[in-house]
Amino acid sequence: MRIDIITVLPELLSSPFEASILKRAIDANLVEVHFHNLRDYTTDNYKSVDDYQFGGGAGMVMMIEPIDKCISGLQAQRKYDEIIYMTPDGERLNQGIANQLSLHENIIILCGHYKGVDQRVRDKFITKEISIGDYVLSGGELGAAVLCDAVIRLIPGVLGNETSALTDSFQDNLLAPPIYTRPREYKGMQVPEILFSGNFPEIEKWREEQAYKRTQERRPDLLEE
Ligand code: ADE
Repeated sequence: MRIDIITVLPELLSSPFEASILKRAIDANLVEVHFHNLRDYTTDNYKSVDDYQFGGGAGMVMMIEPIDKCISGLQAQRKYDEIIYMTPDGERLNQGIANQLSLHENIIILCGHYKGVDQRVRDKFITKEISIGDYVLSGGELGAAVLCDAVIRLIPGVLGNETSALTDSFQDNLLAPPIYTRPREYKGMQVPEILFSGNFPEIEKWREEQAYKRTQERRPDLLEE
């Protein structure tokens, strides 16, 4: 998979890809992540990427020309499955969207800033708009990092244990059950006996019950979906 990220702040985005699972995925050539600084696609001396809003109003708007140059240049080199715009008014990110995106070959992620982008960018180029939650960030970069993490870990071969992504919270609309590790007893706090029984079908049943109970208590909306 190849991910091209278009941003005015590439420095804000680099560190999540330089550690742990994302770094391993890149080092193993399971994913390529390329950053494109929008200012490199400007034509004026000031490297302007934004301008005043037509009709008046506070806040600057990202201009279409540098974005067009960047996206058109990328499209001339390969076909993109999806061109995503990170915005609080997009579809709220969930596991289903991450699963779908992880199957793609090439995607572009455009990070918004200021008031957002000229509507004509959205009309002409964007195929999917994604929000990471109902709050406003100062730019799309952190949202793009969240999206990339959620997607990249699903690419086959990225996680050591192939099954572990499948037992994540949300993968089957259930939250994850409680988990424990050593020591067996800590300051009087015990680990549930069932986990030492060696009876794996019973352990699996217990985990499913706990997952269901936790979901019912914390996120009953997931059970209705
Ligand atoms: N840009 C600003 N806020 C955002 C959000 N909640 N999700 C994605 N991109 C954003």
